[in-house]
Amino acid sequence: MSSGWFETVAVAQRRARKRLPKSVYSALVAGSEKGLTLEDNQAAFDALGLAPHVAGLPAKRDLATTVMGQSISLPVIISPTGVQAVHPDGEVAVARAAAARGTAMGLSSFASKPIEEVVKANPQTFFQMYWVGTREQMAARMDRARRAGAVGVIATLDWSFSNGRDWGSPHIPERLTLREALRFAPEALAHPRWLAKFVKARHVPDLRVPNMADEGKQPPTFFGAYFDWMQSAPPSWEDVAWLREQWGGPFMLKGVTRVDDARRAVDAGVTAISVSNHGGNNLDGTPAPIRVLPSIAAAVGDQIEILLDGGVRRGSDVVKALALGARAVMIGRAYLWGLAANGQKGVQNVLDILRGGLDSGLMGLGRASIGELRPEDLVIPPDFTRTLGA
Ligand SMILES: Cc1cc2nc3c(=O)[nH]c(=O)nc-3n(C[C@H](O)[C@H](O)[C@H](O)COP(=O)(O)O)c2cc1C
Repeated sequence: MSSGWFETVAVAQRRARKRLPKSVYSALVAGSEKGLTLEDNQAAFDALGLAPHVAGLPAKRDLATTVMGQSISLPVIISPTGVQAVHPDGEVAVARAAAARGTAMGLSSFASKPIEEVVKANPQTFFQMYWVGTREQMAARMDRARRAGAVGVIATLDWSFSNGRDWGSPHIPERLTLREALRFAPEALAHPRWLAKFVKARHVPDLRVPNMADEGKQPPTFFGAYFDWMQSAPPSWEDVAWLREQWGGPFMLKGVTRVDDARRAVDAGVTAISVSNHGGNNLDGTPAPIRVLPSIAAAVGDQIEILLDGGVRRGSDVVKALALGARAVMIGRAYLWGLAANGQKGVQNVLDILRGGLDSGLMGLGRASIGELRPEDLVIPPDFTRTLGA
């Protein structure tokens, strides 16, 4: 077995922690304020048990499904993350890994690689939009994604610029100038394997966001684009419907936690929602998505596709989300740990871990396909679920 292989996502995380400079690693952990939501996202999965059978188990299990019209070989797709400097191949490596494992890629507006390169690596790419700038700028951004061949849009609207972390935010430079590089040098030199990858690729992480470039202009820096975002008036539900119409194809609204918002999303004409709290990076104190999923699935599950993201680290987490009404899940940190630990292969490794765990879960629970999973397959503690806005 090649030395880069790891058996669980926790092992990949330990390797990522060792290999990445501290500021890069802590930008991935993130988690706002006290980290209550970040912690609950995983703790809530841990609080759910499984109720396995002992005989009569299915010899084969079917894990395939579709999300927003895309056939995928397992109900796990890549959640968009605007993350720089983890690996020189960045989102292209992630996209290749997802394609190699038969699943879809979500590409962040704040990603380090242009949509054109990412779609080449994985034709099943959804482009993620934030509400930044004017309607014309947003329409142009989506046109570019469409021309590149993106097969859907993920609109992420659950961001309210909360920015304090009790454990301290890492310093992220505006640009990797010589001064910043020198400031960063001791950290980088302490992580020679990470640095060597960038040196070999003849490329320093330049912290620009190519998918936010206005036509014919240089891509803005991460912070330049972030500043524009802060200046943009937050969207109304009419704006959501406009964005959906402007795109005209499969459209996901990411970040829903309330039943009333899920209903409004249906009214706005979306194809799918992701029940999500931005991985615990936004308003601290928001409950874990798995706690609010059952009420949302009960309200709108027969009208739109429901995904969930936040806290998924194991195949059994996927089992739990599907049993409580999700069609598929999206993963964030899990693949980022894989990418940091072993590049494209590391991301494939993470998808294999989730596939294996999901398959074992189905077998033990006596389910021949993911569509058969039910709440009865789980041990759900009293007072587990939360219903918001019903
Ligand atoms: C470092 C980091 C950057 C992220 N950037 C984005 C982004 O640019 N767009 C977006 O829609 N979500 C972003 N997210 C949220 C993820 O898409 C996803 O909702 C979250 O990571 C799921 O939780 P998990 O990390 O526990 O799997 C980011 C998350 C992390 C950890």
